[in-house]
Amino acid sequence: MIYPIVIFGSEALRKPSVEIAQDYPELKKLIEDMFLTMQAAEGVGLAAPQIGKNIRLFVVDCSPWGEEDESCKDYRRAFINPEIYEVSEETGLFNEGCLSLPGLHEDVHRPLAVKMRYLDENFEEHDELFEGFRARVIQHEYDHLEGKVFTDRLSPLRRQLLKSKLLSMAKGKYRAAYKTK
Ligand code: NI
Repeated sequence: MIYPIVIFGSEALRKPSVEIAQDYPELKKLIEDMFLTMQAAEGVGLAAPQIGKNIRLFVVDCSPWGEEDESCKDYRRAFINPEIYEVSEETGLFNEGCLSLPGLHEDVHRPLAVKMRYLDENFEEHDELFEGFRARVIQHEYDHLEGKVFTDRLSPLRRQLLKSKLLSMAKGKYRAAYKTK
């Protein structure tokens, strides 16, 4: 099933998400559907709040970046109850977009590397260092679980300049090539 994607202005994007228990009903099916939803919208990441579910789960597919970044080749993963516990001091700029903010692309500063603990779809524990594109997409999706979107990370001046655009987006003035709600 392909879910409609929740757009900026929705409460679901602002609520912090809760941890998932191992007996969460039909979790594998939900993860599968999130991959389908992300692919249909041609995204590289999708967090559960973006389909209106405030649970700590996101999926990533950075294979489109596989040519530029070897570690992204065929990289498709689900992340459950992730916890970023260390970030690099060094930051970098990258032009980000978000399926929940259609048509908007902005340069965002973020740490270049992060360490994160998480569970995979089989509830196996992992503890990994992420760099390059994977560090970028993971931090973006992780923010969604905290009720944040990438525009929150822009300078106050830049946010001010985008204010009217974001307001009209929240009122339904946007174009997206995928199902939204
Ligand atoms: Ni996003």
